[in-house]
Amino acid sequence: MSAPHVLAFDDEAPLATALAAALGGGVDTIARHRFPDGETRLRLPAALPANVVLLRGLQDPNAKLTELLLAAGGARELGAQRLVLVSPYLAYMRQDMAFTPGEVVSQRVLGGLLAGAFDAVITVDPHLHRVRTLDEVLPGRRGIALSAAPLLGAWVAARVPGALLLAPDEEAGQWVRAAARAQGLDFAVCHKSRHGDRDVDVALPTTEVRGRAVVLLDDVASTGRTLAAAARGALAQGAASVDVAVTHALFIGDALATVKAAGVRQVWSSDCVAHASNAVSVVPLLAGAIDALA
Ligand code: R5P
Repeated sequence: MSAPHVLAFDDEAPLATALAAALGGGVDTIARHRFPDGETRLRLPAALPANVVLLRGLQDPNAKLTELLLAAGGARELGAQRLVLVSPYLAYMRQDMAFTPGEVVSQRVLGGLLAGAFDAVITVDPHLHRVRTLDEVLPGRRGIALSAAPLLGAWVAARVPGALLLAPDEEAGQWVRAAARAQGLDFAVCHKSRHGDRDVDVALPTTEVRGRAVVLLDDVASTGRTLAAAARGALAQGAASVDVAVTHALFIGDALATVKAAGVRQVWSSDCVAHASNAVSVVPLLAGAIDALA
């Protein structure tokens, strides 16, 4: 099969261009017009090859989801026979059960919609809890979950030799463990209690942090409260420094300022979500996964 043609929206053009270059194929931007009533008209290339990759990160997802489904349907009509969604940040993965009666299980609903629109979905460090693989989220389709943790671990190891990698909660333990083992770094896992969207407590592990260069590693920084609480705890216990490395730099509102105010020195992220902190690129990972699908 020939190299896939990449389609993307203008706000992700740099990532799309880099991905197309890595794949050795072309790239086009989807033109958008917003009507006064809030509807959107999309325009794709008038004819598409059979093999198409649609790049769409789903940070701030609600408006993007409508556009994504419109673009997928249009791409099929214009010639795409194999249509792969590359969503470096895949939203709605956390709500994987009804925590109280009547709650919509968003992961299942979104998974069904994406499975109906795409042949495969590729993402990076999705926030899966009780569901182990992305395949389970996408009935009858391929789901590929890559991880930026090894890239972030290598970045950290080169800049903070002898760092202690700290997971701010149990879920981040998987990424910290993988990154630390690959780089021969020490690691430990905190315990987090969440009381509200912006209200978390982080209890540090018994591991000695005094005098250590601590690097907090997590999948996502949203409000930044998790990282800030963990950083304050580590510094209060005598850590020499605290840096942060995350896959998805959402950093909503005052999040980055909150993290910095907690005493964090450097913030690094992958380019899954475009942000000033981007330090490592997931493009080679994404391209490798797309190639492996062929
Ligand atoms: C949750 O378990 C995730 O791994 C992150 O720790 C969390 O989503 C970060 O959220 P926030 O930045 O709002 O504390």
